[in-house]
Amino acid sequence: MGIEPVILDITVPEHIDALAKRIADDPKKRKLRAVVNNAGIAVNAPVETLPLDQWRLQFDVNLFGHIAVTQAMLPFLHQSRGRIVNISSVGGKVAMGTYGAYSGTKFALEAISDSLRRELAPHDIQVVVVEPGGVQTEMTPHGIERARAFVDEMTPAQRQRYGGLMQAVINQSAEFTKKGLSAEQAALVIAKAVTARKPRTRYTIGRDAALLTRLARILPDRTLDRVAAANLRAHFPKEHPA
Ligand SMILES: NC(=O)c1ccc[n+]([C@@H]2O[C@H](COP(=O)([O-])OP(=O)(O)OC[C@H]3O[C@@H](n4cnc5c(N)ncnc54)[C@H](OP(=O)(O)O)[C@@H]3O)[C@@H](O)[C@H]2O)c1
Repeated sequence: MGIEPVILDITVPEHIDALAKRIADDPKKRKLRAVVNNAGIAVNAPVETLPLDQWRLQFDVNLFGHIAVTQAMLPFLHQSRGRIVNISSVGGKVAMGTYGAYSGTKFALEAISDSLRRELAPHDIQVVVVEPGGVQTEMTPHGIERARAFVDEMTPAQRQRYGGLMQAVINQSAEFTKKGLSAEQAALVIAKAVTARKPRTRYTIGRDAALLTRLARILPDRTLDRVAAANLRAHFPKEHPA
């Protein structure tokens, strides 16, 4: 398969430099065809309670890391007229309660991808965005673990205000992912985004993502608020009703 693992924490500049050097010094002089910016973490908590260091971590991984990798890889992509595929999310089009930080990174990634696509089109480099809905990966279990820790760190007043919402979001995201596609099905869409001769600017993954991204385009904010609240209501614990 020709797969070569590399150590790459995208928040560590030295790792990115080492990757660029590895590509520049490739003994077979192969060209870099595509970069898939996929790394991501989910940090869920209300805007009021999420500690600033967690906001920074969320943006470092889901946004600034991808910008750093993209900047480092672009010299190679100019040589190959290659492609950038940015993995966003349905959360890049709809920002539900407790998703402020996660959606903040994904909305920004969507905007930056639009700028990049327009900047790079004259240079024959394609920029494609992929917007998954629920996919069965480690993201939800890890996100739930983090969310539970944030609830533990809340003050009693914050827990009173947001404890029910956090539990509802945890329950909803567990169900959302359980009903989601397999990672293999998601990878097929990403492969298409990487290899299609004339790629679309955006691909959604899963019916949930296709529906929600469309609804976000056409529904007024207040109507979308009511749809979101209605979907979440059933997930609130009995002791903390919506
Ligand atoms: N799963 C879903 O339902 C879903 C829905 C919408 C969008 N997405 C998006 O899909 C992408 C992939 O997520 P996933 O579902 O496959 O989640 P995942 O199973 O948790 O995988 C996330 C990956 O990101 C890597 N990563 C995290 N921090 C990193 C860092 N600082 N540097 C380099 N790599 C890092 C992780 O590596 P380690 O394991 O080594 O930490 C892991 O390989 C993300 O951008 C996510 O936002 C997922």
